[in-house]
Amino acid sequence: MKTSTQSIILVLVLLAFVSCQHQKQVKTSPSLKNTFINDFLIGTALSANQIEEKDSVADALIREQFNVLTAENIMKSMFLQPAWGKFDFTLADKLVEYSKKNNMAVVGHTLIWHSQLPRYVYRITDKDSLKDFFTNHITTVASRYDGKILGWDVVNEALNEDGTMRGSIFYKLLGEDYVTEAFRLAQQAAPNTELYYNDYNIEQPKKRAGAISLIKKIQEAGVRIDGVGIQGHWHARRIPLQEIEESIVEYASLGLKVMITELDVELLPRNFTGADISERMKMKDDLTLNPYVSGLPDSVQQQLANDYEALFKLFLKHKDNITRITFWGVNDGQSWLNGWPAPGRTNYPLLFDREFKPKPAFYKVIGAKETLN
Ligand code: G3I
Repeated sequence: MKTSTQSIILVLVLLAFVSCQHQKQVKTSPSLKNTFINDFLIGTALSANQIEEKDSVADALIREQFNVLTAENIMKSMFLQPAWGKFDFTLADKLVEYSKKNNMAVVGHTLIWHSQLPRYVYRITDKDSLKDFFTNHITTVASRYDGKILGWDVVNEALNEDGTMRGSIFYKLLGEDYVTEAFRLAQQAAPNTELYYNDYNIEQPKKRAGAISLIKKIQEAGVRIDGVGIQGHWHARRIPLQEIEESIVEYASLGLKVMITELDVELLPRNFTGADISERMKMKDDLTLNPYVSGLPDSVQQQLANDYEALFKLFLKHKDNITRITFWGVNDGQSWLNGWPAPGRTNYPLLFDREFKPKPAFYKVIGAKETLN
Protein backbone atom coordinates (compact mmCIF):
# COMPACT_ATOMS: atom_id res chain seq x y z
CA MET A 1 0.00 0.00 0.00
CA LYS A 2 2.75 2.35 1.04
CA THR A 3 4.69 1.59 -2.15
CA SER A 4 1.72 2.31 -4.40
CA THR A 5 1.06 5.67 -2.62
CA GLN A 6 4.71 6.58 -3.10
CA SER A 7 4.46 5.67 -6.79
CA ILE A 8 1.39 7.87 -7.23
CA ILE A 9 3.15 10.78 -5.53
CA LEU A 10 6.19 10.24 -7.73
CA VAL A 11 4.05 10.24 -10.89
CA LEU A 12 2.26 13.42 -9.75
CA VAL A 13 5.58 15.15 -9.04
CA LEU A 14 6.86 14.10 -12.46
CA LEU A 15 3.71 15.38 -14.15
CA ALA A 16 4.00 18.71 -12.33
CA PHE A 17 7.65 18.98 -13.41
CA VAL A 18 6.86 18.22 -17.07
CA SER A 19 3.98 20.70 -17.05
CA CYS A 20 6.22 23.33 -15.47
CA GLN A 21 8.90 22.77 -18.13
CA HIS A 22 6.25 23.05 -20.81
CA GLN A 23 4.98 26.33 -19.35
CA LYS A 24 8.52 27.71 -19.39
CA GLN A 25 8.60 27.25 -23.16
CA VAL A 26 5.22 28.87 -23.71
CA LYS A 27 5.61 32.52 -24.50
CA THR A 28 4.38 34.58 -21.60
CA SER A 29 4.64 38.01 -23.15
CA PRO A 30 3.20 39.39 -26.36
CA SER A 31 5.61 40.24 -29.13
CA LEU A 32 6.38 43.78 -30.27
CA LYS A 33 7.01 42.78 -33.87
CA ASN A 34 3.68 40.91 -34.12
CA THR A 35 1.71 43.61 -32.35
CA PHE A 36 2.89 46.27 -34.82
CA ILE A 37 3.13 43.98 -37.85
CA ASN A 38 0.74 46.12 -39.92
CA ASP A 39 2.18 49.42 -38.68
CA PHE A 40 5.98 49.53 -38.77
CA LEU A 41 9.06 47.38 -38.36
CA ILE A 42 10.30 47.00 -34.80
CA GLY A 43 14.05 46.89 -34.38
CA THR A 44 16.88 46.72 -31.92
CA ALA A 45 20.60 47.45 -31.95
CA LEU A 46 22.90 44.50 -31.40
CA SER A 47 26.29 44.43 -29.72
CA ALA A 48 29.11 42.19 -30.96
CA ASN A 49 28.32 39.66 -28.24
CA GLN A 50 24.77 39.25 -29.45
CA ILE A 51 25.75 39.09 -33.11
CA GLU A 52 28.01 36.17 -32.23
CA GLU A 53 25.02 34.52 -30.48
CA LYS A 54 26.98 34.15 -27.24
CA ASP A 55 24.00 35.08 -25.11
CA SER A 56 21.20 32.56 -25.52
CA VAL A 57 18.65 34.43 -23.37
CA ALA A 58 19.18 37.62 -25.37
CA ASP A 59 19.03 35.60 -28.55
CA ALA A 60 15.61 34.12 -27.73
CA LEU A 61 14.21 37.54 -26.89
CA ILE A 62 15.63 39.12 -30.05
CA ARG A 63 14.02 36.45 -32.22
CA GLU A 64 10.71 36.78 -30.36
CA GLN A 65 10.41 40.57 -30.30
CA PHE A 66 12.16 42.20 -33.28
CA ASN A 67 12.12 42.01 -37.07
CA VAL A 68 14.89 44.44 -37.99
CA LEU A 69 18.44 44.75 -36.65
CA THR A 70 21.03 47.52 -36.56
CA ALA A 71 24.62 46.88 -35.52
CA GLU A 72 25.29 49.14 -32.56
CA ASN A 73 28.98 49.47 -33.49
CA ILE A 74 30.45 46.84 -35.76
CA MET A 75 29.41 48.37 -39.11
CA LYS A 76 31.09 51.68 -38.27
CA SER A 77 34.21 52.47 -40.30
CA MET A 78 36.75 51.86 -37.50
CA PHE A 79 35.60 48.24 -37.40
CA LEU A 80 34.97 47.66 -41.13
CA GLN A 81 38.20 49.27 -42.39
CA PRO A 82 40.65 49.05 -39.47
CA ALA A 83 43.68 49.59 -41.72
CA TRP A 84 43.73 51.68 -44.88
CA GLY A 85 42.27 49.61 -47.73
CA LYS A 86 41.98 46.49 -45.51
CA PHE A 87 38.41 45.57 -44.72
CA ASP A 88 37.16 43.17 -42.08
CA PHE A 89 33.62 42.01 -42.75
CA THR A 90 33.59 39.04 -40.36
CA LEU A 91 31.06 40.33 -37.83
CA ALA A 92 29.02 42.36 -40.31
CA ASP A 93 28.61 39.26 -42.50
CA LYS A 94 27.59 37.30 -39.42
CA LEU A 95 24.89 39.84 -38.64
CA VAL A 96 23.55 39.61 -42.18
CA GLU A 97 23.53 35.78 -42.02
CA TYR A 98 21.83 35.83 -38.61
CA SER A 99 19.12 38.15 -39.91
CA LYS A 100 18.57 36.00 -43.00
CA LYS A 101 18.28 32.85 -40.93
CA ASN A 102 15.69 34.54 -38.70
CA ASN A 103 13.77 36.36 -41.38
CA MET A 104 14.78 39.81 -40.16
CA ALA A 105 15.93 42.92 -42.02
CA VAL A 106 19.22 44.76 -41.40
CA VAL A 107 19.96 48.48 -41.39
CA GLY A 108 23.61 49.37 -41.94
CA HIS A 109 24.93 51.92 -39.47
CA THR A 110 26.78 53.92 -40.68
CA LEU A 111 28.84 54.77 -43.80
CA ILE A 112 29.98 58.33 -43.00
CA TRP A 113 30.21 59.60 -39.40
CA HIS A 114 32.74 61.92 -37.75
CA SER A 115 32.99 59.56 -34.76
CA GLN A 116 34.39 56.02 -34.49
CA LEU A 117 36.53 56.58 -37.58
CA PRO A 118 39.69 54.50 -38.02
CA ARG A 119 42.61 56.25 -36.32
CA TYR A 120 44.49 56.88 -39.60
CA VAL A 121 41.58 59.01 -40.87
CA TYR A 122 41.99 61.50 -38.02
CA ARG A 123 45.58 62.03 -39.20
CA ILE A 124 44.59 62.97 -42.77
CA THR A 125 45.18 66.64 -43.56
CA ASP A 126 44.64 66.86 -47.33
CA LYS A 127 41.48 66.76 -49.37
CA ASP A 128 42.64 64.14 -51.91
CA SER A 129 43.52 61.51 -49.31
CA LEU A 130 40.24 61.99 -47.47
CA LYS A 131 38.34 61.84 -50.78
CA ASP A 132 40.08 58.51 -51.53
CA PHE A 133 39.06 57.06 -48.17
CA PHE A 134 35.52 58.45 -48.50
CA THR A 135 34.96 57.07 -52.03
CA ASN A 136 36.56 53.69 -51.42
CA HIS A 137 34.81 53.12 -48.08
CA ILE A 138 31.33 53.95 -49.31
CA THR A 139 31.72 52.07 -52.58
CA THR A 140 33.25 48.91 -51.10
CA VAL A 141 30.92 48.60 -48.13
CA ALA A 142 27.65 49.66 -49.78
CA SER A 143 28.17 47.40 -52.81
CA ARG A 144 29.04 44.37 -50.65
CA TYR A 145 25.68 44.44 -48.90
CA ASP A 146 23.50 45.68 -51.77
CA GLY A 147 20.43 43.49 -52.05
CA LYS A 148 21.27 41.87 -48.69
CA ILE A 149 20.25 44.65 -46.35
CA LEU A 150 17.25 46.96 -46.22
CA GLY A 151 19.00 50.31 -45.91
CA TRP A 152 22.04 52.34 -44.88
CA ASP A 153 22.43 55.31 -42.60
CA VAL A 154 24.56 56.90 -45.31
CA VAL A 155 25.48 60.00 -43.31
CA ASN A 156 25.13 60.26 -39.54
CA GLU A 157 25.00 63.44 -37.43
CA ALA A 158 26.23 66.05 -39.92
CA LEU A 159 24.48 68.94 -38.15
CA ASN A 160 24.99 71.22 -35.17
CA GLU A 161 22.12 72.03 -32.80
CA ASP A 162 21.47 75.35 -34.59
CA GLY A 163 21.05 73.59 -37.91
CA THR A 164 24.43 74.62 -39.36
CA MET A 165 26.88 72.04 -40.63
CA ARG A 166 29.02 70.32 -38.01
CA GLY A 167 32.70 71.14 -38.49
CA SER A 168 33.70 67.49 -38.97
CA ILE A 169 36.80 66.38 -40.83
CA PHE A 170 34.56 65.69 -43.85
CA TYR A 171 33.08 69.18 -43.81
CA LYS A 172 36.45 70.83 -43.31
CA LEU A 173 38.32 69.00 -46.06
CA LEU A 174 35.61 68.08 -48.57
CA GLY A 175 33.22 71.01 -48.14
CA GLU A 176 29.50 71.21 -47.55
CA ASP A 177 28.60 69.03 -50.53
CA TYR A 178 30.14 65.95 -48.94
CA VAL A 179 26.70 64.82 -47.76
CA THR A 180 25.22 64.86 -51.27
CA GLU A 181 28.37 63.17 -52.58
CA ALA A 182 28.06 60.40 -50.00
CA PHE A 183 24.49 59.70 -51.14
CA ARG A 184 25.57 59.83 -54.82
CA LEU A 185 28.28 57.21 -54.20
CA ALA A 186 25.92 55.04 -52.12
CA GLN A 187 23.27 55.24 -54.84
CA GLN A 188 25.77 54.04 -57.45
CA ALA A 189 27.12 51.25 -55.26
CA ALA A 190 23.80 50.10 -53.78
CA PRO A 191 20.93 50.60 -56.22
CA ASN A 192 18.75 48.12 -54.29
CA THR A 193 19.31 49.54 -50.82
CA GLU A 194 17.37 52.34 -49.12
CA LEU A 195 19.47 55.39 -48.24
CA TYR A 196 18.89 57.43 -45.07
CA TYR A 197 20.10 60.56 -43.28
CA ASN A 198 20.25 59.89 -39.50
CA ASP A 199 20.67 62.37 -36.63
CA TYR A 200 19.62 63.19 -33.05
CA ASN A 201 17.49 66.19 -32.00
CA ILE A 202 16.35 66.73 -35.60
CA GLU A 203 12.82 67.04 -34.28
CA GLN A 204 13.91 70.35 -32.68
CA PRO A 205 12.92 73.33 -34.88
CA LYS A 206 16.37 74.79 -35.68
CA LYS A 207 18.09 71.50 -36.28
CA ARG A 208 15.04 70.25 -38.19
CA ALA A 209 15.29 73.26 -40.53
CA GLY A 210 18.95 72.38 -41.10
CA ALA A 211 18.06 68.76 -41.86
CA ILE A 212 15.32 69.79 -44.27
CA SER A 213 17.66 72.08 -46.17
CA LEU A 214 20.30 69.31 -46.32
CA ILE A 215 17.72 66.83 -47.64
CA LYS A 216 16.42 69.30 -50.22
CA LYS A 217 19.97 69.86 -51.50
CA ILE A 218 20.37 66.11 -52.02
CA GLN A 219 17.03 65.91 -53.80
CA GLU A 220 17.70 69.00 -55.96
CA ALA A 221 21.00 67.45 -57.07
CA GLY A 222 18.94 64.54 -58.46
CA VAL A 223 20.42 62.14 -55.91
CA ARG A 224 18.32 59.52 -54.15
CA ILE A 225 17.50 59.75 -50.45
CA ASP A 226 14.75 57.43 -49.22
CA GLY A 227 14.36 58.23 -45.58
CA VAL A 228 15.27 60.16 -42.50
CA GLY A 229 16.10 58.69 -39.11
CA ILE A 230 15.14 60.70 -36.03
CA GLN A 231 17.36 58.98 -33.48
CA GLY A 232 15.02 59.41 -30.52
CA HIS A 233 17.38 59.68 -27.54
CA TRP A 234 14.79 61.36 -25.32
CA HIS A 235 14.31 62.15 -21.62
CA ALA A 236 11.58 60.99 -19.23
CA ARG A 237 8.97 63.68 -18.47
CA ARG A 238 10.42 65.78 -21.28
CA ILE A 239 9.49 63.94 -24.46
CA PRO A 240 9.04 66.62 -27.15
CA LEU A 241 5.81 65.14 -28.52
CA GLN A 242 4.72 68.22 -30.41
CA GLU A 243 8.08 68.67 -32.13
CA ILE A 244 8.20 64.98 -32.97
CA GLU A 245 4.75 65.15 -34.55
CA GLU A 246 5.60 68.26 -36.57
CA SER A 247 8.80 66.62 -37.75
CA ILE A 248 7.12 63.40 -38.88
CA VAL A 249 4.69 65.46 -40.96
CA GLU A 250 7.36 67.75 -42.40
CA TYR A 251 9.85 65.02 -43.30
CA ALA A 252 7.10 62.89 -44.83
CA SER A 253 6.01 65.85 -46.97
CA LEU A 254 9.47 65.72 -48.60
CA GLY A 255 8.54 62.25 -49.85
CA LEU A 256 10.68 60.48 -47.25
CA LYS A 257 10.12 57.43 -45.09
CA VAL A 258 10.39 58.48 -41.46
CA MET A 259 12.08 56.25 -38.91
CA ILE A 260 12.78 56.43 -35.19
CA THR A 261 16.18 54.82 -35.22
CA GLU A 262 17.83 54.80 -31.78
CA LEU A 263 14.99 54.98 -29.29
CA ASP A 264 15.69 55.10 -25.56
CA VAL A 265 14.38 57.23 -22.70
CA GLU A 266 16.94 58.70 -20.28
CA LEU A 267 15.98 58.43 -16.60
CA LEU A 268 19.14 59.77 -14.96
CA PRO A 269 20.03 63.41 -14.33
CA ARG A 270 21.63 65.14 -17.27
CA ASN A 271 21.88 68.84 -18.02
CA PHE A 272 21.76 68.61 -21.82
CA THR A 273 19.79 66.66 -24.41
CA GLY A 274 20.86 64.73 -27.47
CA ALA A 275 23.61 62.17 -27.98
CA ASP A 276 26.82 64.02 -28.75
CA ILE A 277 29.40 61.48 -27.64
CA SER A 278 31.99 64.20 -26.94
CA GLU A 279 29.84 65.62 -24.10
CA ARG A 280 30.77 64.27 -20.66
CA MET A 281 29.63 64.80 -17.07
CA LYS A 282 31.90 64.31 -14.10
CA MET A 283 30.63 61.71 -11.63
CA LYS A 284 30.32 62.90 -8.06
CA ASP A 285 30.92 60.72 -5.00
CA ASP A 286 27.27 60.88 -3.94
CA LEU A 287 24.32 59.42 -5.75
CA THR A 288 23.17 62.70 -7.33
CA LEU A 289 24.01 61.54 -10.82
CA ASN A 290 23.34 57.87 -10.16
CA PRO A 291 20.26 57.73 -7.94
CA TYR A 292 18.76 54.33 -8.80
CA VAL A 293 21.63 51.93 -8.15
CA SER A 294 19.49 49.61 -6.07
CA GLY A 295 16.37 49.73 -8.22
CA LEU A 296 13.84 52.01 -9.83
CA PRO A 297 11.14 53.54 -7.61
CA ASP A 298 7.60 52.68 -8.76
CA SER A 299 6.77 56.30 -9.58
CA VAL A 300 9.75 56.54 -11.96
CA GLN A 301 8.94 53.16 -13.49
CA GLN A 302 5.41 54.43 -14.10
CA GLN A 303 6.70 57.68 -15.60
CA LEU A 304 8.81 55.72 -18.08
CA ALA A 305 5.80 53.58 -18.99
CA ASN A 306 3.62 56.65 -19.55
CA ASP A 307 6.27 58.32 -21.72
CA TYR A 308 6.63 55.23 -23.89
CA GLU A 309 2.84 54.92 -24.17
CA ALA A 310 2.54 58.54 -25.32
CA LEU A 311 5.28 58.00 -27.88
CA PHE A 312 3.69 54.88 -29.35
CA LYS A 313 0.25 56.48 -29.50
CA LEU A 314 1.85 59.25 -31.53
CA PHE A 315 3.75 56.81 -33.76
CA LEU A 316 0.53 54.87 -34.41
CA LYS A 317 -1.28 58.07 -35.33
CA HIS A 318 1.37 58.59 -38.03
CA LYS A 319 1.91 54.96 -38.96
CA ASP A 320 1.34 55.69 -42.65
CA ASN A 321 4.52 57.76 -42.70
CA ILE A 322 6.64 55.80 -40.20
CA THR A 323 8.32 52.66 -41.49
CA ARG A 324 10.45 51.59 -38.53
CA ILE A 325 10.94 52.05 -34.78
CA THR A 326 14.31 50.79 -33.54
CA PHE A 327 15.28 50.64 -29.84
CA TRP A 328 18.95 51.37 -29.08
CA GLY A 329 19.72 48.08 -27.38
CA VAL A 330 17.91 44.98 -26.13
CA ASN A 331 17.86 45.42 -22.36
CA ASP A 332 18.70 48.01 -19.70
CA GLY A 333 21.94 46.33 -18.68
CA GLN A 334 23.34 46.58 -22.17
CA SER A 335 22.36 50.17 -22.92
CA TRP A 336 25.10 52.67 -23.82
CA LEU A 337 23.42 55.06 -21.34
CA ASN A 338 25.01 53.15 -18.44
CA GLY A 339 28.36 54.50 -19.64
CA TRP A 340 27.56 57.92 -21.08
CA PRO A 341 27.77 60.85 -20.36
CA ALA A 342 29.15 59.63 -17.03
CA PRO A 343 30.67 56.17 -16.59
CA GLY A 344 29.36 53.45 -14.30
CA ARG A 345 25.75 54.56 -13.89
CA THR A 346 22.72 52.29 -13.52
CA ASN A 347 20.22 53.32 -16.15
CA TYR A 348 16.81 51.97 -17.20
CA PRO A 349 16.00 53.40 -20.64
CA LEU A 350 14.55 50.39 -22.50
CA LEU A 351 11.52 48.07 -22.42
CA PHE A 352 13.31 45.01 -20.96
CA ASP A 353 15.08 44.90 -17.60
CA ARG A 354 18.48 43.43 -16.79
CA GLU A 355 16.95 39.94 -16.55
CA PHE A 356 15.32 40.43 -19.98
CA LYS A 357 11.88 40.65 -18.34
CA PRO A 358 9.35 43.01 -19.91
CA LYS A 359 8.88 46.18 -17.84
CA PRO A 360 5.61 48.08 -17.28
CA ALA A 361 6.67 50.28 -20.23
CA PHE A 362 6.60 47.20 -22.48
CA TYR A 363 2.98 46.48 -21.57
CA LYS A 364 1.99 50.13 -22.07
CA VAL A 365 3.53 50.05 -25.55
CA ILE A 366 1.57 46.91 -26.41
CA GLY A 367 -1.50 48.50 -24.80
CA ALA A 368 -1.15 51.59 -27.00
CA LYS A 369 -1.99 49.35 -29.95
CA GLU A 370 -4.70 47.37 -28.19
CA THR A 371 -6.64 50.50 -27.20
CA LEU A 372 -6.90 51.35 -30.90
CA ASN A 373 -8.41 47.99 -31.85
O1 G3I B 1 36.28 48.93 -29.19
C1 G3I B 1 36.70 49.26 -27.86
C2 G3I B 1 37.31 48.07 -27.18
O2 G3I B 1 38.47 47.71 -27.88
C3 G3I B 1 37.63 48.42 -25.73
O3 G3I B 1 38.10 47.30 -25.07
C4 G3I B 1 36.36 48.90 -25.01
C5 G3I B 1 36.64 49.35 -23.59
O4 G3I B 1 35.70 50.29 -23.15
O5 G3I B 1 35.87 50.01 -25.72
C6 G3I B 1 35.48 49.70 -27.05
O6 G3I B 1 34.96 50.84 -27.63
C7 G3I B 1 33.67 51.21 -27.23
C8 G3I B 1 32.76 51.17 -28.46
O7 G3I B 1 31.49 51.68 -28.11
C9 G3I B 1 32.59 49.77 -29.05
O8 G3I B 1 32.09 48.88 -28.12
C10 G3I B 1 33.74 52.64 -26.67
O9 G3I B 1 34.46 52.65 -25.46
C11 G3I B 1 32.36 53.20 -26.44
O10 G3I B 1 32.45 54.58 -26.14
C12 G3I B 1 31.54 53.03 -27.72
O11 G3I B 1 30.28 53.58 -27.47
C13 G3I B 1 29.38 53.58 -28.57
C14 G3I B 1 29.14 55.02 -29.05
O12 G3I B 1 28.16 55.02 -30.07
C15 G3I B 1 30.41 55.63 -29.60
O13 G3I B 1 30.15 56.84 -30.20
C16 G3I B 1 28.06 52.99 -28.08
O14 G3I B 1 28.25 51.60 -27.79
C17 G3I B 1 26.97 53.15 -29.14
O15 G3I B 1 25.73 52.82 -28.58
C18 G3I B 1 26.90 54.60 -29.61
O16 G3I B 1 25.95 54.69 -30.62
C19 G3I B 1 25.70 56.01 -31.14
C20 G3I B 1 25.21 55.84 -32.55
O17 G3I B 1 26.17 55.10 -33.29
C21 G3I B 1 24.97 57.20 -33.21
N1 G3I B 1 24.05 57.99 -32.43
C22 G3I B 1 24.41 58.15 -31.03
C23 G3I B 1 24.61 56.80 -30.37
C24 G3I B 1 24.92 56.98 -28.95
O18 G3I B 1 26.17 57.64 -28.82
